[in-house]
Amino acid sequence: MPISYFAHLRCPRCHASLAEAADALRCQGCEQRYPLMQNGAFPVLVPEPKPYLAENLTQFARFGRERRGFAWMIDEALTAHPWRETTLRPLHSALLRNLETTDSLGAEIAAQRSPEEHAAAGGEPQDPTSGQADYGPELLGFVQTDWSDAPEMVAQRATVMEKVGGMLDRFSSGGPALLLGGGAGRAYYDLAPRFERLMGCDLCYTYVSLYHRVQRAPVPLAEIHFPTIATDVVATPFVAQRPADGERTHDAYFVADATRLPVADASQRTVISIYFSDCVPFPALVRELHRVLEPNGTFVSYGPMIHRSVPPTGWFTPSEVMAIARQAGFECEFQEWSELPFRESPHHGIRTTHRVWAYTLRKRG
Ligand SMILES: C[S@@+](CC[C@H](N)C(=O)[O-])C[C@H]1O[C@@H](n2cnc3c(N)ncnc32)[C@H](O)[C@@H]1O
Repeated sequence: MPISYFAHLRCPRCHASLAEAADALRCQGCEQRYPLMQNGAFPVLVPEPKPYLAENLTQFARFGRERRGFAWMIDEALTAHPWRETTLRPLHSALLRNLETTDSLGAEIAAQRSPEEHAAAGGEPQDPTSGQADYGPELLGFVQTDWSDAPEMVAQRATVMEKVGGMLDRFSSGGPALLLGGGAGRAYYDLAPRFERLMGCDLCYTYVSLYHRVQRAPVPLAEIHFPTIATDVVATPFVAQRPADGERTHDAYFVADATRLPVADASQRTVISIYFSDCVPFPALVRELHRVLEPNGTFVSYGPMIHRSVPPTGWFTPSEVMAIARQAGFECEFQEWSELPFRESPHHGIRTTHRVWAYTLRKRG
């Protein structure tokens, strides 16, 4: 991450400035230490980084165990039924291909721990990532949508960019800007050239870490379709990679919680959410938006109302969302519903179309 961006970051706990220390950013107020990962490529800016990283390490280990067990069963099935070679062998290879990458993500966290932390590790970590369990190594589809050049994924990205770009053209007056819940980061990468300064975040370690790896070199992964299938293709290998003609100039993409943002009050002119604002309780999100946006600043949101990972108390309808936003000090300037065929593939046993809500909110001046 370019050092010039550090000046625009704040402690997510107390909003004091951050100073660079060895392999970390240190809060100049509460002194919390925020590790820099992948040789300084990105900071982990959650209020409690140690338990957060410990939980991720546990998640990678659990995923590795489960997927090795799965690969072992496929191996057994191949021995018992050699005639299934053409369908099961690619599945076995796909499982190992993903494990190679996810194991190395776990190793990246383990390598950053001090000997004392290794010694103290063990027991169940706290649960700083509650609500995040669905994302990460279990769900590499977001990485495929973002970074593979399969025509279906290219088409989906183009539709999203056209809609979001259209709203930004009409309703936003530019940067400084922030993208929330950016997943594997393609929207961050594609939107960054529009702004003098765009920062982006996601709470999922896997996605942010893969974003930075993809900037450096292609990452081999695979989509596993099994057992929901429509054809004999049960797994599709893909390479997550930057566009051939793409620049690598926008790297201010880091780990953070959108409800505890590591940025100063009234510091952003535009905040963008794509497939995200239904993923956290809206009242907490709107409070944080109100804190970080400048007066008259704009929030641009595009995505369905699926409420993944949100407890039932956070399931709000569109008119309830608007009522909460108004009460928090926002006016809606635009809204529109459309449909998006989601992650289309001839090999998927289920075809999904999302009803997508696009809207913008302006913070009252
Ligand atoms: C439905 S995915 C969409 C990802 C991406 N925007 C896209 O369109 O592919 C929702 C994303 O929100 C992230 N997320 C969930 N809770 C979050 C939080 N509190 N702060 C930041 N990101 C969060 C997840 O890790 C996940 O990447």
